[in-house]
Amino acid sequence: MSPTSRTKPDPDHAPPADTRSFAEQWSGISKYLADVFAKPDPQLATLMSRAIAEGIPDIAVSPETGRFLSLLARMAGGLGGGGGARMIVEVGTLAGYSTIWLSRGLAPGGRIVTLELNPKHADFAQREFARAGIAARVQIRRGPALESLTTMARTMPPASVDMVFLDCVKTEYPEYFRIVRPMIRAGGLLVADNILSSGTWRIDDGPGTSPDRDAVDEFNHLVAADPAFESIGVPIGNGILVARRLGA
Ligand SMILES: C[S@@+](CC[C@H](N)C(=O)[O-])C[C@H]1O[C@@H](n2cnc3c(N)ncnc32)[C@H](O)[C@@H]1O
Repeated sequence: MSPTSRTKPDPDHAPPADTRSFAEQWSGISKYLADVFAKPDPQLATLMSRAIAEGIPDIAVSPETGRFLSLLARMAGGLGGGGGARMIVEVGTLAGYSTIWLSRGLAPGGRIVTLELNPKHADFAQREFARAGIAARVQIRRGPALESLTTMARTMPPASVDMVFLDCVKTEYPEYFRIVRPMIRAGGLLVADNILSSGTWRIDDGPGTSPDRDAVDEFNHLVAADPAFESIGVPIGNGILVARRLGA
């Protein structure tokens, strides 16, 4: 049905306003996606509950988002080299949950550099990488992400990264984008979590309601307007941005 052929809503019989949060509205859909597409292995199934028991916050991506990340990593490598990403940069490690999903999309010999400020999180993640058998393929760079990224942008060859995954300080998203932009090769992917919501804000709360929301909104507009990328926001989990660098 085209929008113009819809009958006008009758204000006297309007449905009651849906007061559920974004997460509540989507929890059934989220569970369905996870059940059908994202069955975690025994390690991933218990990783976050073990992390939470050690005092690490419950802020990892959802299982279906993790599955989406592994698929994107697989596609980010392009058709050459047996498929899979050869180099992934992740900003925000936490307990290593998303890193392990990302590792499932690595090419043979592919590597991940993941950035984390909190030593407790980095130590926990390091143990999980050993347990997952990926410790030799994952390097945790400890310290503030902006500093690590600035050093990496200076020392790594330009356009040498297949995929960047941003999931760190939301007010720093625009700055992360400016730094990682030249690092992503043609055909590579920029992916970011929380581009539509977090536990405390939603993008449609509107400007001025939260510094995190406003910074993410600025980031979304920066990427969407960048002629070097084709991009879309996907309403899975808290919203994932997927942007492909043009030229390949
Ligand atoms: C949302 S969590 C990452 C979740 C992870 N990607 C996952 O889904 O499993 C964000 C992480 O960034 C870390 N962090 C916070 N500020 C940081 C900074 N300035 N530099 C680097 N890491 C930081 C936090 O300690 C936390 O572990």
